[in-house]
Amino acid sequence: MVEKLKNVVENIARDFLENSLALRYDICTCNICKTDMLAYILSRVPAKYATTEQGIIHTVIEQAKVEHRAEIARAVIAAIDIISKNPRHKQHEDRKKTFQLLLDKIFEDRGLDFRHYREEILKRRVAMRMRTNNISSYADYLRFLIKNPAEYEELFAALCINVTEFFRDPEVWVTLRYLFEKLAKEKTKKNDLTIKIWSAGCSSGEEPYSIAIMLKEMAKTGLLNNFSTEIVGTDIDKAALKMAEISKYPKESLKNVNAQYLKEYFTPLSDGRHHLNKDIKDRVKFQYLDLINQESVENPDVVICRNVFIYFSRSLQEQLLTKFHKALKPGGYLIMGKAEIIFSEAKEIFKDIDINARIYQKKEV
Ligand SMILES: C[S@@+](CC[C@H](N)C(=O)[O-])C[C@H]1O[C@@H](n2cnc3c(N)ncnc32)[C@H](O)[C@@H]1O
Repeated sequence: MVEKLKNVVENIARDFLENSLALRYDICTCNICKTDMLAYILSRVPAKYATTEQGIIHTVIEQAKVEHRAEIARAVIAAIDIISKNPRHKQHEDRKKTFQLLLDKIFEDRGLDFRHYREEILKRRVAMRMRTNNISSYADYLRFLIKNPAEYEELFAALCINVTEFFRDPEVWVTLRYLFEKLAKEKTKKNDLTIKIWSAGCSSGEEPYSIAIMLKEMAKTGLLNNFSTEIVGTDIDKAALKMAEISKYPKESLKNVNAQYLKEYFTPLSDGRHHLNKDIKDRVKFQYLDLINQESVENPDVVICRNVFIYFSRSLQEQLLTKFHKALKPGGYLIMGKAEIIFSEAKEIFKDIDINARIYQKKEV
C-alpha cells in the first residue's frame, strides 16, 4: 500500500503560526485568516515530503525544522502582517469599536467598569478567554457572554489579575515595619491610640493579613500597648474575597513567610496548604469595594494599594489618588507597588517618604 505523502513543513508552519497568533490580541485570527496565512507561508517555503516508510516521521520533522526554521519564521511574520491588513472576508471587524462595546456590556450587565483600564493589558486578558472558547472576534465573544453568563466569572478572574502573596517584595516590608513603628510613636505622643489601615485591592487577603502579622509582632515590643488597630481589606473580585475569608493558603503564597511566623500564625493542613490562625484572621475585615465607582473607606491612617494602579489609565490613577488624598487622615501614608510611581503632578498632594518602598505622605493643600 502506498503511504500518503506528507508535507512536514506544513506541520512546522502550523505550529509556528499558532504560537505567534497566541500572543496577538490586536488582529483577526479567525479560521479564514489562519488558512490564508498558512497558504501564504507554504507558498514561500519549499515543501519537504515524507512518508511513514521513511521511518519515524518525528525525525524528519526535526530535520526539516533545523533546515528551514529561519525561513519559516520569516514567512510566518510576513503572512501575519499581510493577511491581517487585508483579510479575505468582507466584514473586517472594527476591533476598536467591538472591544469598547464589550467593555460597555460588562459595565451594563455587571457594573464593573474596565473602560478606563490600560487597554493592552485588558486585551491580552480577554484574548486568553477567547482562545479558551475558540472565539476569534470580540463581537462573537460578546454574543458568547450573552448566551453563557457563567463565562463572566471566568472573564473577571482573568481581568482582575489577582496574583498576590504574603509579604510580597520582602525588602519593602522591612521599611513598612519602620513606618508603622514611627506612626505608632507619633500617635502615642498625640495620645491618639488608634491605627486604621486600608488595603485597597487586597485580592485573596495575603496583604492585609501580612499587615496583621506585622502589627502582632510589633505589639510584642510593647509599642502598641493600649492601641486599637483596624485593618480593612477591599476588592472587586468576589471570588478572591471569598478565598480571603476561607484563609487557607498554598505554599506558593507563603514563600516569604519565615519559619517562626509559619509556626506561630498558621496551622498546616493535610493537603499541603496552611490555614491562618483565627487570632490573625479576626483582625482583618473584608468588604467588596470598587475603587472607581464607590466611596472610599473612611479616615485611614494608611492606604496600602499595591499592584493595582498598573492596570489603570493615567486619568483613572489621577482620580484615585485624589480619592485617597481626601480619605486619608492628615499626615496619612499611601503605599504603592514596586512597579508603580505617582506621576509628577500628584507630588502636589503627596510627598515622597521612601522612593524605593513607594511610600508617600498626604500633604495638606
Ligand atoms: C495584582 S492584585 C494586587 C493584590 C495585592 N495588593 C498585592 O499587591 O499583592 C490586583 C487586585 O486589584 C483588584 N482590582 C482591580 N480593579 C479594582 C477596582 N476597580 N476596585 C477594587 N479592586 C480592584 C483586583 O481584583 C486584584 O485583586
